[in-house]
Amino acid sequence: MTGGKSEPPEFDTSVAHQARIYDYLLGGKDNYAADRAAAEAGLKVWPEGAFTARANRALLGRVVRYLAGEAGIRQFLDIGTGIPTAGNTHQVAQAIAPETRVVYVDYDPIVLAHARALLTSSDAGATEYIHADLRDTSAILDQASQLLDFTQPVAVTLLVLLNAIPDSDDPHGIVAQLMNAVPSGSYLAISHPGSDLLSREALHGITDVADRMIRQAFIFRSREQVARFFAGTDLVEPGLVRAEQWRPDPGSAQDRSSLWCAVGRKR
Ligand SMILES: C[S@@+](CC[C@H](N)C(=O)[O-])C[C@H]1O[C@@H](n2cnc3c(N)ncnc32)[C@H](O)[C@@H]1O
Repeated sequence: MTGGKSEPPEFDTSVAHQARIYDYLLGGKDNYAADRAAAEAGLKVWPEGAFTARANRALLGRVVRYLAGEAGIRQFLDIGTGIPTAGNTHQVAQAIAPETRVVYVDYDPIVLAHARALLTSSDAGATEYIHADLRDTSAILDQASQLLDFTQPVAVTLLVLLNAIPDSDDPHGIVAQLMNAVPSGSYLAISHPGSDLLSREALHGITDVADRMIRQAFIFRSREQVARFFAGTDLVEPGLVRAEQWRPDPGSAQDRSSLWCAVGRKR
C-alpha cells in the first residue's frame, strides 16, 4: 500500500477522495476531475461499482428506517457520513421519530464544508457533526457523549467505511471499542466491500486503481472477516447478506452489489 494512505485526507483536488468518488457515483456535484477519473477507471474493471454505491445508499435508508421504526432507536452515531445527499440519517430517522438525536463523524474536509446540511434537525431532536478520524475512537466517544446518552441504546452505523481502515489499524478492535461504550440493546450496522463478491480479476483491477489513484486505502474483506465485526451481537433477520438483499423494498432492483452488510443487536 502506498505510504500516507491511512493519514486523514487534506483538502486536495488533485487526488481522488472516497467521499467525492462516492458522490460522483451517486450523481452528486461535489467532485473533481481526479475523482471522476478514478471512478471511471474503477468502473472499467468493476462495472458493478456503480450499482454497489446506489445499493449502499438505499441500504442506509432501509437500515435507519428499521432502527428508528421496528427497533425503536432514538440515538445514532453515524461514522463515515459522506457528503450530505438525499436521505441523510437524521432525515430518515426523524421522519419516523422527530426526537431522534444523531451524531455524524467524518474526517474528510469536504464533508466538514457541507456539514451545515447535516445540522438541520427537527426541533424535537438534535444533530451534531464531529470532524474526526474513526481511529481517534476515544475522542469521538467523548465528544459524542455531549449529545448522546450512552446509558440508553445507540445505533452505531459504519456504512462503507471500514474498508478505509487497514488491518494494521485494528478495525475489529475499533468496532469493539465503540460497541463497548454503548449498552445492551444497542445496534451495529455495517456494510463492507466483499473480497468474495467479485471475480479475482475485478478485485486485482480495482485494487490497482485504488493504489494508483485514490487517496485512502480501499480494502475488500471476506464474509468471514465482516462477520467478526459483529462479535457480541445477535444479527437481525436476514443476517449477513449482500446489501440489496437486506430487507429489500418491494420491486427494488436486483442487480448484484459487491457489498456485505448486516445489523446486529448488542447482547
Ligand atoms: C463511501 S462514503 C460512505 C458514506 C455513507 N456512510 C453512506 O453509506 O452513504 C465513506 C466515508 O467515510 C469517510 N471515512 C473514511 N475513513 C474514515 C476515517 N478513518 N474516519 C472518518 N471518516 C472516514 C470518508 O471520508 C467518506 O466520507
